[in-house]
Amino acid sequence: MTPIIRVVDVRKSTPLRRNPIFVFGPPVVLFALGISLVSQPDAFGQKHEIILAQIEANKEAGHIPPTPEIDEYLYPLFATEHAGNEYVVVNKQRPLNPIDYAPASLREINSSKSLDNSRGLVLADNAATAIEAMAVDLTAAGLGPLFINSAYRSYGYQSDLFESKTEQYGLEGALIRSAKAGHSEHQTGLAVDVSVTSQGCAIMQCFGGTAAGIWIAENAHKYGLIVRYEEDTTSTTGYTYEPWHLRYVGKEVASLYAERGIHTLEDFWKLPAAEFYLEEITESTND
Ligand code: DAL
Ligand code: ZN
Repeated sequence: MTPIIRVVDVRKSTPLRRNPIFVFGPPVVLFALGISLVSQPDAFGQKHEIILAQIEANKEAGHIPPTPEIDEYLYPLFATEHAGNEYVVVNKQRPLNPIDYAPASLREINSSKSLDNSRGLVLADNAATAIEAMAVDLTAAGLGPLFINSAYRSYGYQSDLFESKTEQYGLEGALIRSAKAGHSEHQTGLAVDVSVTSQGCAIMQCFGGTAAGIWIAENAHKYGLIVRYEEDTTSTTGYTYEPWHLRYVGKEVASLYAERGIHTLEDFWKLPAAEFYLEEITESTND
């Protein structure tokens, strides 16, 4: 039997390397891959989306955008540096800008049967709304009412407070308990110190072991709040455990923070630890 042989005229066939799919395909695929990697930077890809969604929600609600329009890929980093933004990260190495920053608008936290703000303290509106909602549920759980010990603090107030802590505990003791003026979350209007009179341990570390302290640590994220200075985070934050100090960061960030089991904002935003002020480091290396 004669084998069937197909004779192919190679002059008429298209060489593989000249097929446009093979010529243009690989560069296009590589380019698309590159774009997707660049636009999803590991450090803040997911958070970046949260922030953009937040901006859209603010716009839809008719709120003035919290920051100027800037390149969307720079926004997450910018937001953590912007004193008027709920994502701002303030620590010993990230002072507020300007250092004597004061929020444009603050309001009194509303007292109710769930919340005692007899000191008439004020916060940014979003933070005040969050703490009021948390107080309602804490009280419904039989653990209220919530008492507001401290909320917004001006630059001048924080400066006096740091000085009085220094007199009380000495400089080293003050540094782990209180921020220097211009470096406190309280100056943003987004931080609040709380207690529950019936539980005792007001503004003491043992508050974290009370039923109310445990409830707050477990539930604060549902209202957009986090316990900012958790146990054993001094090497990152520079402060000792403060189960009473709550920071408003918005519900999206707070729920991701809880879901991922993160313990500091520095870790959440992948920022450097700030145990010491830069001048403390400089002084100690000069010794
Ligand atoms: N106690 C916290 C660290 C503050 O002073 O802001
Ligand atoms: Zn505080």
